[in-house]
Amino acid sequence: MRIKWTRNTAAVAALLSALCLSANANAAEDSGKTRIEPRNEHFAKSHADQFKTWEATKESEEIDDALAGDPNMVVLWAGYGFSKDYNKARGHFYAVTDVRQTLRTGGPKDEKTGPMPMACWSCKSPDVARVIDERGEDGYFEGKWARLGAEINNAIGCSDCHNTGSKEFAEGKPALTLTRPYVNRAMEAIDMKFEDQSRFDQQAQVCGQCHVEYYFTGPTKGVKFPWDKGTGVDEMEAYYDEIGFKDWTHGVSKAPMLKAQHPGYETWREGIHGKNNVTCIDCHMPKVQNEDGKVFTDHKVGNPFDRFEDTCAQCHTQDKETLEDVVATRKASVQEMKLRAEKQIVAAHFEAKAAWDAGATEEEMKPILMDIRHAQWRWDYAIASHGVHMHAPDVALRVLGTALDKATDARTKVVRLLATKGITEEIQIPDISTKEKAQQALGMDMDKMNADKAEFLKTIVPEWDKQAKVREASY
Ligand code: HEC
Ligand code: HEC
Ligand code: HEC
Ligand code: HEC
Repeated sequence: MRIKWTRNTAAVAALLSALCLSANANAAEDSGKTRIEPRNEHFAKSHADQFKTWEATKESEEIDDALAGDPNMVVLWAGYGFSKDYNKARGHFYAVTDVRQTLRTGGPKDEKTGPMPMACWSCKSPDVARVIDERGEDGYFEGKWARLGAEINNAIGCSDCHNTGSKEFAEGKPALTLTRPYVNRAMEAIDMKFEDQSRFDQQAQVCGQCHVEYYFTGPTKGVKFPWDKGTGVDEMEAYYDEIGFKDWTHGVSKAPMLKAQHPGYETWREGIHGKNNVTCIDCHMPKVQNEDGKVFTDHKVGNPFDRFEDTCAQCHTQDKETLEDVVATRKASVQEMKLRAEKQIVAAHFEAKAAWDAGATEEEMKPILMDIRHAQWRWDYAIASHGVHMHAPDVALRVLGTALDKATDARTKVVRLLATKGITEEIQIPDISTKEKAQQALGMDMDKMNADKAEFLKTIVPEWDKQAKVREASY
């Protein structure tokens, strides 16, 4: 959108900014430092090539319902938000839209209601960097997700990865930076302090601000990466076990569960490209030429196969079809192992429920529930790191193998326990053949959730947008 600067708009802007200054004190100006610029449009003219290609991430607009594609996941996440609604990733441009729309964030009625904490904004917007800069981490994290809904309105963009206030950036240099203090701490925990890394490592690290495993902890439910022991599946599992952390209690088996987020950075590091220091940028943000022949970084983060010549072909001599075939075959293998693991873990959840129903004690259930926890964590670690079949298919297959192994352990133990309670017949699994049937089997009131969400989108969200506009008019 281009606004013509007329006397009229100037007058409106002045009015809006006066309103805004009286309504909410401007923290950045009060403290005398420069505000982190959250608006991507602000760079449309000064950095036209990067802006235009960044904006093109909106072309990846398709919403792909992952639960409809695989209803087992409804059961695996029973009792947790992901069983309500889970879509596959799409363009960065939609990050704020999508987190507002997902049923996982519920239908808050005001700033204090709603199921999720503020931390749920953390990987969606450069406004997060701005607000942390202005209010500190606690000032950002505390409270429910709806608390600062009017503050977080720009989708993932320039100030998520760049020091946009620096002289270097103004001159057209990258000035890459990590924009969340908790990311700096995590990188230091794995001896990867940002400032000390090579250009290539830094490129991957900016993606590693969000495409990682994390959890919410402490009094304000802030974000932490569970990397203190390392970034592998075993090390993070040991870390979580040691601190006794669980994301939720499973709705069917009552197991203390872990939800893997999207450990893409971690699995990439373990894969053949990561080991050879081929970074996310080489494939997802290649160097290209503009109309004037000037080389710049293509900011349309998407599927690297869409511009094969600028990505894979820079290093490989095979043609596109050959490499696409390789990747498709690996995807099919990962998918197959994923479904095999799911089948076992779903059965284990229902068998554990049958054992509880037959009067099993906490003591008897504990080893079974731990096996279920570990099996599902491993399954999730492998599949939640999107693109893993490309980034590290060997890692995914190994981890899924261990998931299957843990699930079998759980089932062997629970079947023995059931026998001691006199139950020897097979435990029946309800009809979970579609997303709707699976949600029904769990007794989830989807009509209510959808109605609450619709109400929230109709009443609260327009209010947030209005307030954001007023605030930004004063920038
Ligand atoms: C997800 C992270 C990310 C986002 C979002 C992002 N950039 Fe970049 N940007 C990069 C990376 C990575 C490079 C390449 C760095 C290198 O070459 O070492 C880069 C390079 C640049 C450069 C240096 C010149 C060039 O093209 O290589 C400029 C200028 C730039 N980006 C501007 C922007 C602007 C403007 C926006 C917002 C519209 C933006 N970037 C959004 C990661 C990002
Ligand atoms: C500030 C957090 C953040 C950063 C930084 C970030 N991403 Fe993302 N990325 C996301 C989120 C959130 C989504 C999902 C957006 C949605 O579906 O609404 C996503 C989606 C994607 C997708 C799917 C796009 C599509 O069209 O299907 C790819 C690929 C991706 N990111 C790669 C990268 C790479 C490479 C980098 C580093 C240059 C990066 N991301 C940096 C948060 C981030
Ligand atoms: C060697 C090239 C290469 C590297 C390096 C690489 N990727 Fe990818 N990535 C791909 C390809 C190709 C796909 C799509 C695979 C497919 O078509 O099934 C993909 C898929 C993805 C997806 C899933 C997109 C979706 O819509 O499901 C995400 C997210 C992603 N990559 C992020 C990253 C991040 C973050 C890094 C660095 C930590 C990275 N990638 C490193 C090539 C690469
Ligand atoms: C910057 C260079 C670079 C780019 C870009 C790149 N690769 Fe690679 N690729 C490598 C290197 C280095 C290896 C390891 C080679 C070796 O060990 O012989 C490798 C190995 C591979 C392998 C064989 C390793 C295995 O897992 O069996 C495949 C397949 C592959 N790349 C596919 C791709 C695809 C697909 C793309 C584009 C999405 C891509 N690469 C982009 C450098 C690159």
